[in-house]
Amino acid sequence: MKVELNVNNARASVEVEPRTTLVDCLRDNLGLTGTHTGCEHGICGACTVLLEGEPVRACLMLAVQADGYAITTIEAVAPAPGELSIVQDAFCETHGLQCGFCTPGMVLTAEALLRRIPDPTRADIVSAISANICRCTGYGQIVEAIALAAKRLAGSNLPRQVVPGEPA
Ligand code: FES
Ligand code: FES
Repeated sequence: MKVELNVNNARASVEVEPRTTLVDCLRDNLGLTGTHTGCEHGICGACTVLLEGEPVRACLMLAVQADGYAITTIEAVAPAPGELSIVQDAFCETHGLQCGFCTPGMVLTAEALLRRIPDPTRADIVSAISANICRCTGYGQIVEAIALAAKRLAGSNLPRQVVPGEPA
């Protein structure tokens, strides 16, 4: 089947089987391997991408279901090649990642949270990432990273998140 995707503000026309998941399409058809494949049944959150700005499990969604929607992957989070977003930088600074396998999903979840709640409480942060598993169990530092990013974003005039098609 032919699917017209809008990924990271770019149009992509791909041929997929009806059973192809969005995560497989992103990785195999578009080469966007920053979206990770973990459990492949909706448990771990490693495959998290943003659909119209909201976190979704790309392993639970078929590529054909994404037709016409704006999708954001981790590749679009940094402001420019070689740079980090405020959230990514905060993860580095607080040691919010170890092996990095969960990190794209955590970062996108954090980006969505901070757009929705610019000044989150610790409980808000814990709740937001509660559906994302970190096998390195670095949750304390991840919560710290998101709190730091919120603080820094509050003092900046940078857009909180890249969402294709939406004003910042
Ligand atoms: S790979 Fe999608 S939730 Fe685990
Ligand atoms: S940093 Fe290794 S799984 Fe989270």
